[in-house]
Amino acid sequence: MNVIYMDAKEGMYKVADIKLAEKGRESIYVAARKMPVTCKVLRERFAKEKPLKGIKVAGCLHITKETANLALTLKEGGAEVLLCGSNPLSTQDDTAAALAEQGIKVFAWHGNTSEEFYWCIKECLKQKPNILIDDGADLIVTAHKEFPELIKSGTIMGCQEETTTGVKRFKAMDEAKQLKVPLFPVNDARCKNEFDNELGTGQGVLSAIQGMHILMAGKVVVVAGFGHCGSGMALRARGLGAQVLVTEVDPIQALKAVFAGYRVVPMDEACKEADVIFTVTGCKDVVTTKHFDMLKDGCILGNLGHFDVEVATKKLYEIAKDRKPIRKDVEEITLKNGRKVYLLGQGRLANLVLTEGHPSEVMDMSFGLQSLISEFIVKNYKTFKPGMIDVPKDIDDKVGLLKLDAMGIKIDKLSEVQYKYIHGYEEGT
Ligand SMILES: NC(=O)c1ccc[n+]([C@@H]2O[C@H](COP(=O)([O-])OP(=O)(O)OC[C@H]3O[C@@H](n4cnc5c(N)ncnc54)[C@H](O)[C@@H]3O)[C@@H](O)[C@H]2O)c1
Repeated sequence: MNVIYMDAKEGMYKVADIKLAEKGRESIYVAARKMPVTCKVLRERFAKEKPLKGIKVAGCLHITKETANLALTLKEGGAEVLLCGSNPLSTQDDTAAALAEQGIKVFAWHGNTSEEFYWCIKECLKQKPNILIDDGADLIVTAHKEFPELIKSGTIMGCQEETTTGVKRFKAMDEAKQLKVPLFPVNDARCKNEFDNELGTGQGVLSAIQGMHILMAGKVVVVAGFGHCGSGMALRARGLGAQVLVTEVDPIQALKAVFAGYRVVPMDEACKEADVIFTVTGCKDVVTTKHFDMLKDGCILGNLGHFDVEVATKKLYEIAKDRKPIRKDVEEITLKNGRKVYLLGQGRLANLVLTEGHPSEVMDMSFGLQSLISEFIVKNYKTFKPGMIDVPKDIDDKVGLLKLDAMGIKIDKLSEVQYKYIHGYEEGT
């Protein structure tokens, strides 16, 4: 994709077009109204207490209006904030422009190449950040490979990871004793994955189909992966009247899908019936060469997993007889057998490429957590050792309570007797 405009101020920002700032400001404002935890309660406290004063926070995140609000809350807390995109196609150029205008150092534009993607990451790391917030592990892995002095010198106090795929990469690094920083897997906090993944990505099915504007009722929709995201997607596709088939590799997740009333079948069978296939596994080659020739004419292929390898896009391009864009971010691919299939967002996260990503309401909790974890890192970093550190339960609960409070919902509280009862072993039959 050609970027027509490019606005840059060295070390300060590089965005597609700074003149888009006004539109970006409007969307950031609209999102903030739906993010009371991040944008009201925490932002107001951070503005008074300045818990991040003198701290540089670098985020490699989808540059959306919700991420913009996280950045502005951290800035209110006294931080200098640097941002780069965590996916070449998820940056909203108007948001990036509005952030640059408000003093966030943002290096991101929609449609950047792989080389440019890593250039943006390095622009952030060059400025010696103290806290890294990642979505997919590319920022922190680049820090390990190319900026080891930031780790050795203790400049980096602590890190956070926002998504399942990133957490899996870091767990593998930790097991191989290669993770050299303290890392909070924010994705695994309940206030994150039970809402952001299930509801946000779950609703992604709606955004993803907007590219084709089809009627879901009566369609055979295949959901590959019945985890946090996939179970939410399957439910919503069924709610729209689709006949949902699930593919899995984990026996327990497969059983959960069966008992939730879905037909579970291997992809080799599912792909023959599918009108629509969404992958959301964190795995690769889930729909691959052997499946392409079996697809029905008109089948829509979309991915919501972090990387563009779940539908083997490169292999699909290689075997294609013809390839042409038919709508924004939708390509018609003609297979050798003459059938035509439709690929959404070049196989990248369709909910972020084709529309605006997760609704602000759920991102409020994910980013409420990241704001509080940033504060926790500054207060406690001297006690950390390199490796994975669970998000403290009291921070997870706090975000849940703040969200309920903002919604005007009250809940019961355990009495002392009840607390002892459920944490004890003495009372029985
Ligand atoms: N699009 C978004 O906005 C968004 C948001 C959150 C997470 N994600 C990404 O979505 C992906 C899934 O996240 P999750 O939290 O649901 O993970 P999860 O671990 O809860 O679920 C993944 C499921 O996929 C299954 N699976 C793995 N390989 C498979 C294969 N080859 N075929 C079929 N099933 C397979 C696993 O058994 C598991 O049940 C990750 O890449 C994550 O980073 C995307």
